[in-house]
This record gives sequence, structure tokens and C-alpha cells, in this order.
Amino acid sequence: MISKMQPSDPPLLAVLKGDRRDPPPVWLMRQAGRYLPEYRALREQKGGFLELVYDSDAAAEITLQPIKRFAMDGAILFSDILIVPHAMGQGLRFGPGEGPQLSPPLLDGAFAQLEAQPQYLAKIYETVAKVRARLSPAVTMLGFAGSPWTVATYMVAGHGSKDQGEARRLAYNDPQGFQALIDRIVMVTVDYLSGQIEAGAQAVQLFDSWAGTLSPAQFERWVVAPTADIVGRLMVRHGEVPIIGFPKGAGAKLAAYAAETGVDAIGLDETIDPAWADAMLPAGMPVQGNLDPLALIAGGEALKSAVSRIRAAFDTRPHIFNLGHGILPDTPLSHVESLLDMLRKPF
Ligand code: CP3
Repeated sequence: MISKMQPSDPPLLAVLKGDRRDPPPVWLMRQAGRYLPEYRALREQKGGFLELVYDSDAAAEITLQPIKRFAMDGAILFSDILIVPHAMGQGLRFGPGEGPQLSPPLLDGAFAQLEAQPQYLAKIYETVAKVRARLSPAVTMLGFAGSPWTVATYMVAGHGSKDQGEARRLAYNDPQGFQALIDRIVMVTVDYLSGQIEAGAQAVQLFDSWAGTLSPAQFERWVVAPTADIVGRLMVRHGEVPIIGFPKGAGAKLAAYAAETGVDAIGLDETIDPAWADAMLPAGMPVQGNLDPLALIAGGEALKSAVSRIRAAFDTRPHIFNLGHGILPDTPLSHVESLLDMLRKPF
């Protein structure tokens, strides 16, 4: 467990350290993004997503947009999980109307040789420092990285896919080569998260968006073990900084993830029944989530009842309110406002 709470900890950070707060602190995954007109305007002006990420003034401004508009409890660094493979030498493109493309794909790569070039990651640390300097002490600054498995699925295939088939095949056909790739991503990720923490991130989240497609044995090897490796190494360098693990789609494998990785808090996706999660997870372990992003788009009674169900399930556990996955571009701003009104009233 992490070291003691400080009286000066902002609410979100206090909850991550095990202190329950009512109302729960709130932030939304992808809260800086296309559903915000001020984001779309800046993106248009700068020309593209990567141009924004590597311009630390623009990235800091975007990180702060949802804080200014909604007074969220957490500010998440505006960047992307694919900056790590970009820094490790793969070309990266976010073309209009297609998912991200990494080139060349790593199917035949010399995995053990991959190193990150520091100038890419240095830009991201600059963003964190610029945000922290402008942020109220009541708001928690969150850093993040992709988990090795999820990052590897993009590096190997060169693009996203529904079933991560190429990475899963490689993991069976060449487990040693795949392990070398995972080990390289672990080392770069530890340095990268440490850099974010040293620049001002007060907690970090590991996004494992594709954890759900693995069999239990493969999940142990490619999700649980590398995550535990990252957590162990970060603990040595920054033991006081909480780590949120978000193994999307893990379902029943969440119990193993919570017990074995050493993460301080668990992010739950919207397919998880919050009452089941509360019954199954270790007592006192903080959770984050898990409103269906589509319930937020629906609004009205559907939104109200989904929010109540989540709050009722976590009425004794440290809980950070969030979505179960990123906010969608067609989410009405007024529904985000209604959600925040609901959360900030006594339950
Ligand atoms: O939460 C936040 O606001 C922080 C910023 C953030 C982004 N991506 C910005 C982004 C974070 C934490 C991510 C994580 C990320 N990126 C994940 C893990 C979480 C998840 O959503 O599953 C993954 C798998 C990626 C890879 C990625 N980046 C994809 C597949 C895409 C295209 C799909 C899409 O939604 O456009 C992106 C682009 C991306 N990353 C955008 C943003 C705001 C949209 C860029 C734009 O068109 O302006």
C-alpha cells in the first residue's frame, strides 16, 4: 500500500489513496476531445492531432479545457498511448476517418533493440509541467501510458483491430521475441511515467484497452506480469504516486488483475456490474468508473438510473466517478452538465 495521505491532497488523489469522499470526485476518460467545440477549434487551427500533442502550449491548453468548462476533479494529460511507439522509432499517422497507423509494422522487428528517443517524450513532460503550473491545487493532475500488451497490439499490426489477431498469433508463435518487445515497452513506460511524475503528475493510469481478448493464461503472461513489472519499478522510484489500472474487457479476470498487479485502484469498464465488482474486489480498494458512454449520450432517465446504480454499489468504497470508456464525440455538452449536477447533489 502507498504511504499516508496528506491533508493537502485534493479529493481525487485522496480517494486514490483510500479515503472515501461523498460526493465522489469525477473526471471523464477522453474529457479533452472532439465533443468540445473549443477542442475542435484549436485542432482545426493547428492542423492535426499529433501537431497538438507535440505543441506543449496547445496540449496544455487542451488539457485545461474540460477543467475550465466543467470543473472536473482531475486533469488528464492530453497526449496518446501511441506516443511511446512513435518515440521508439515507428512512424505514426492519425489520418482523417481512419484509426491510427504505425509504420512499419513490427511483425519481423528486432524487438530487443528498440529504444525511445528522448526528444519525443520531453515534449510531453513539458505539457505536464505547463498544466500543473496553471492548475488549482484542488485539481489532481493525471499522467498516463498504454499498457505493454495494448501498445504492442498496435506496434505489431501497425493499426488497431477488433481481435488483436496479429499480436496474439505472434505471442504464440514467437513467445521469446514477443516477450522481448513487451520488456522493451515496460522499460520505456517506466521511464516515461517517471518523467510525467517528475514534471507534476500526481497519479498515473495504465490504459489496457485490449486486455479483454486474451485467454486466462495469456492474460497472466501479457497483461498481469508486465503490469506488475511496471508497478514494482515505479514503486521503487515514486512509491507515493497511486497507479490506476484499467484492463478494459477483463471481466472475470479482474479479480486476478486486482490481486496480482499491485495497482492501487481499478478502472472498471461499462460491461462490469458495479455490485459484482464491489463484492469481488478487495475491501477498501478504490475503483473508478463505470458509466456507459452511451447512457451519457441518452441522458434523461437512462442516465439518472445508471448513475444511481453505480453510486449505490459503491456507497461504502472509495470511488471516482468516470465513464467505462472514453466520452464519444457526439455527446451533448448539456448531458455532461446534467451528470455533474446529479453527482454534486447529495445522494
Ligand atoms: O483521456 C484523455 O482525454 C487523455 C488523452 C487520451 C487520448 N487517447 C487522446 C486522443 C488518452 C488517455 C488516449 C488513450 C488511447 N489512445 C487509448 C486507450 C484508451 C482507449 O480509448 O481505449 C487508445 C487505444 C488510443 C489509440 C487511439 N488514439 C485511437 C484508436 C484513436 C482513434 C480513435 C478516435 O477516438 O479518434 C486515437 C486518437 C485520439 N486520441 C483522439 C484523442 C482526443 C482523437 C484525435 C482527433 O481526431 O482529434
